[in-house]
Amino acid sequence: MKITILTLFPNMFSGIFDESIIKRAIDKKIVEINLIDFRQYSPDKHHHVDDTPCGGGAGMVLRVDILDKAIKENKTDNSHVILMTPQGTKYSQAKAYELSKYEDIVLICGHYEGFDERIRNYVDEEISIGDYVLTGGELGAAVVTDSIVRLLDKAINEESHLDDSFSNGLLEYPQYTRPVEYDGMKVPDVLLNGNHKLINEYRLKESLRKTYLRRKDLLENREFTKEELKLLEKIKKEEN
Ligand code: ADE
Repeated sequence: MKITILTLFPNMFSGIFDESIIKRAIDKKIVEINLIDFRQYSPDKHHHVDDTPCGGGAGMVLRVDILDKAIKENKTDNSHVILMTPQGTKYSQAKAYELSKYEDIVLICGHYEGFDERIRNYVDEEISIGDYVLTGGELGAAVVTDSIVRLLDKAINEESHLDDSFSNGLLEYPQYTRPVEYDGMKVPDVLLNGNHKLINEYRLKESLRKTYLRRKDLLENREFTKEELKLLEKIKKEEN
């Protein structure tokens, strides 16, 4: 997969892409990440990329002509072009799965006070990473890239993300490792007895319990199996 990030601050990504799973995925050629400073597409000699807002007001606005040129120079017929903006669709694990299927993604990072509304006509979708305003789209683009790359084939052991929080619409079950007892807290016995049927049932129940206690909203539109419904009834009795 190829991910191209159009940004005025390519150095903001160093560190994040130079370590751990993303670095390994780049080294193994599972993903190619291109950081493009779109200032180079400015036609004026001072390389300005923004201008004052039409109609007046504070701040500067990113120019449509420069972003259009940057997109055209860096996209292919297969590219899926995404604008990072707090006005976009809220990002989710389901969206990360969807994006991980593309061959080629272009992420555009807005900056400063805003961008010319007409830029929206040159993108396939707009993504927000949450209901807060960042100084620019770079942190959002890093979040989207990280969450996609870990899903790519062979980036990590597939089983590690089959149980991720949200991958089956639930929060992940609690995990433990040695020491078996620490500061008076014991690992649940069921995880130590090697009975995988009981372990799976325990994990499903605790995954449901965590979601019920912390994120009831995730349960609202989810379809449940008969076993899940039974477990959920038990949890409700236990917790109320
Ligand atoms: N740029 C500024 N704020 C943002 C957000 N919440 N998500 C994506 N891009 C942004």
